[in-house]
Formats: sequence, C-alpha cells, structure tokens
Amino acid sequence: MATPHINAADGAFAETVLMPGDPLRAQYIAENFLENAELVTDVRNMFGYTGTYKGKKVSVMGHGMGIPSCSIYVHELIKDYGVKNVIRVGSCGAVKDDVKLMDVIVAQGASTDSKVNRTRFADHDFAAICDFHLMETAVGEARKQNVSVRVGNVFSADLFYSPEADLFNKMDKLGILAVDMEAAGIYGVAAELNARALTILTVSDHIIRGEALSSDERQKSFNEMMTVSLETAIN
Ligand code: HPA
Repeated sequence: MATPHINAADGAFAETVLMPGDPLRAQYIAENFLENAELVTDVRNMFGYTGTYKGKKVSVMGHGMGIPSCSIYVHELIKDYGVKNVIRVGSCGAVKDDVKLMDVIVAQGASTDSKVNRTRFADHDFAAICDFHLMETAVGEARKQNVSVRVGNVFSADLFYSPEADLFNKMDKLGILAVDMEAAGIYGVAAELNARALTILTVSDHIIRGEALSSDERQKSFNEMMTVSLETAIN
C-alpha cells in the first residue's frame, strides 16, 4: 500500500535500501551502479529505484536533507515496505584535525542537537549507534578496496548554518569526526522499528580548516564510497 510519501507497489523495495540525501544521486546510483533498475516511487520527486547489484536485489532512494525528512522516508520504508537494512550514503564536513578530505567515515555512533531520540526515550540520552554487522562488513570492504576509512562518532546537526562556531572545536575535543544532518535520526528510527542501519560518508569539506573537495575529487570519493556501500548491501 502506498504511504503519504511513497507511491511504490507492495514488495517494490529490496530488503536493503541505500539512501543518499539527493534524489538525483539516487537516480545516478541506479543508472550507473545497478542492473535493470526501475523507478518505484516518485512522490515529491524523491525518487526510489530497485534493481540488482551482482545479481542481488538492491534499492536506492533519496531521503532529503535533515532529520525530519529522512525520518519520514526511513520510517515508511521499514514499517510499510518491510525494509530491513538502511544504508545512508552521504557527505559530511570534518571537524577532527586528523580527518582528511576524501576519507570515508563509517558512523559508529551519532550525537545530535536534535531532540528526536529524547522524544522517543522519556527525555533520556539515547546512544544512537549503527548496526554492528553492517559496520563490520563496510569496514572490511573499505580495507579490501584500499579506501582510507575512519570509524567513530559523528554529529547530526539541525542547523547547517550554525551560529555557534565554537561548537565545532568542542566536537573536535570530544573526538567527533564530522558533521552530517541525518545519521542520528536514521539510527533512532531503525532502533524504534527494529531494523538495521548504517551511515557511510565521504568527507566533502573540513569545517575547521575551511577546505573543500573539487568536483572531480567529489565524484571519485563518491564512487569509492558507493562500491564499499554496495558490497556491504549484498554481504
Ligand atoms: N554540515 C552538515 N552537513 C554537511 C556538511 C556540513 O558542514 N558538509 C557536508 N554535509
């Protein structure tokens, strides 16, 4: 049955869905990495596709920007379409000094200034963590493919344009590797609905050093992350 935000047929999604923020990235992944990919949902142009990778059924769908947007799509995929594994494939801004542009970050945990996980948990702290099996598989694949990988805590920010610049230095001191805008929300939804989730990120910029990838480097880094993510999806 269609949901308010997804108009796919029952059974249209694979058990594992890769999720970039940008729906045109989902289209790019479907066209360049999957075989026989078909568009299965297009409400609000938040495109979702199902195809195969090395013969195994895999889906890819955009989740938009920020915790409210990704929470809606991940909730409906798990609850209404029976999705078991969600792998976010995104970008992040590094804050930790020894994180380099082009590194791939596997978000073992996700801190946040969002209140969503407190709302779920009587206002207590909830340690938003990824699924161990997905993480272990992704790290193994990254090593196999000689991709420079970092594993640790990220911070999912509600504000892209933060007025509190010193917060980034505090994150660095606490060992937080990088900032995204969704991981903590996706981990919370997965925990609530008993599914597995992982966030894999390319470092597109370094917030404290003011560095950014060129568009060629961005593409190369994205492609490296995608092969790691697709192998994780089928293993
Ligand atoms: N903040 C939040 N998310 C991001 C950033 C950032 O600086 N860069 C890439 N994704």
